[in-house]
Amino acid sequence: MERVSDNVVKTFINGVGDVYFNLQRYSTTISEEHRFIYYFDAEGRFMGGFFDGVSYRRGLDNRLMKKFFDKDGFKVKVFVDENEKRKVIEDVIRRVSKIRNVLSEHSDEVLRRIDEILKWGYKQLEEDGIKFFSVYKPISILPPDQYFSLVLQPAEGCSWNKCTFCSFYQDRKFRVKSPDEFLNHIRKVKEFFGRAIGLRKSIFLGDANALIIPQKRLVELIKIVRDEFPVGEAKDGYDYVFDGIYSFLDIFGAERKSYAEYVELKNLLVKRIYIGLETGDINLFRYLNKPGSPDECVEVVSTIKNAGINVGVIVLAGAGGKKFYEDHVENTVSTILKMPLENGDIVYISPLVLDGEAEYVKIMEELGSRTLDKFEIADQIQEIKDGLKSLSNLGVRVTLYDIQEFIY
Ligand SMILES: C[S@@+](CC[C@H](N)C(=O)[O-])C[C@H]1O[C@@H](n2cnc3c(N)ncnc32)[C@H](O)[C@@H]1O
Ligand code: SF4
Repeated sequence: MERVSDNVVKTFINGVGDVYFNLQRYSTTISEEHRFIYYFDAEGRFMGGFFDGVSYRRGLDNRLMKKFFDKDGFKVKVFVDENEKRKVIEDVIRRVSKIRNVLSEHSDEVLRRIDEILKWGYKQLEEDGIKFFSVYKPISILPPDQYFSLVLQPAEGCSWNKCTFCSFYQDRKFRVKSPDEFLNHIRKVKEFFGRAIGLRKSIFLGDANALIIPQKRLVELIKIVRDEFPVGEAKDGYDYVFDGIYSFLDIFGAERKSYAEYVELKNLLVKRIYIGLETGDINLFRYLNKPGSPDECVEVVSTIKNAGINVGVIVLAGAGGKKFYEDHVENTVSTILKMPLENGDIVYISPLVLDGEAEYVKIMEELGSRTLDKFEIADQIQEIKDGLKSLSNLGVRVTLYDIQEFIY
């Protein structure tokens, strides 16, 4: 076994070639000649890999997402069926077993990790996916910078649940957990993740707008998080630290909290709040049936920013179709430019994904507005980015939020 860098060792295996082992504290990546790469969490669960140009990500719910590029260079993301999932996972297990068989007298650490990985057959991973749902309600979506957060669900669902384009939380009623129930949920989360919890960078409070929880209860629930996890600083008995607490908030919920309440949240290490503006065009905004208004969104963002918390503002690309194209771009850009954004804030552009059943589709049909195709959506994203160019000088990132790419 040859050491390549602090955490990477390699060996040559006949019939396979150079095999690299990247031994991070909370993950292991095995690479065969950089052509077949697969990675595992600290408990040895398969998490994903790259197989000759196709990439796969396995969710903790045991779904498997495949990503590749179509003929026009657009990224395609699909959840594969059971057959393909079994084929991919069994192939990975076969490859790791093959490596295990020829490594018997080599590095102890590599062998220890491979043995952990091989504890997980297809059946065990399937059972783990079922166990996930005894700990969590489905984790429908997260902001892209929070894909590696540890999700906790002090609340379930969306308190509004009536935006015409959004079907993320239609499967559940909004409810807030009691402190005892939340603590019990946290214990189950810890047990489920095991050592793999260290791979998570931050805490995300689910679901759709946990920060709408009345302040007294919210503070009580966040204090439980702070008691149970090291947030912002090391804690005895833990070898990882989360960098802060993050959550979604809709505009309607946001307007109810005062500046002083946001300061209290900042002091509890709430670092960034994500708000869906969707569009700055008031007419389109009404058709989307978002709570609040673009102006209220600017106000809410200002209050949150004054309190010292960063924001992630989300807008929809393609919203309103052809009829609203120009107004949507112009008013979205001008609304965002009214916000006091600065370093650490993010503007996310989410290409609208249509669910044929959604109220939004019927409304646009009635208005006679044609849906934008993928080329027009790409153009609109670019136009919004161009309009927001000045933000990059302030350290604000303007970037894509692709809901189809999400898997937890
Ligand atoms: C789940 S919502 C939570 C945010 C918060 N409840 C709010 O509305 O401000 C997160 C974001 O997902 C995006 N989203 C929801 N449905 C979508 C769809 N059908 N296509 C694309 N993006 C969508 C919206 O931009 C929304 O702001
Ligand atoms: S966009 Fe946000 S507020 Fe609207 S239904 Fe979806 S989660 Fe709820």
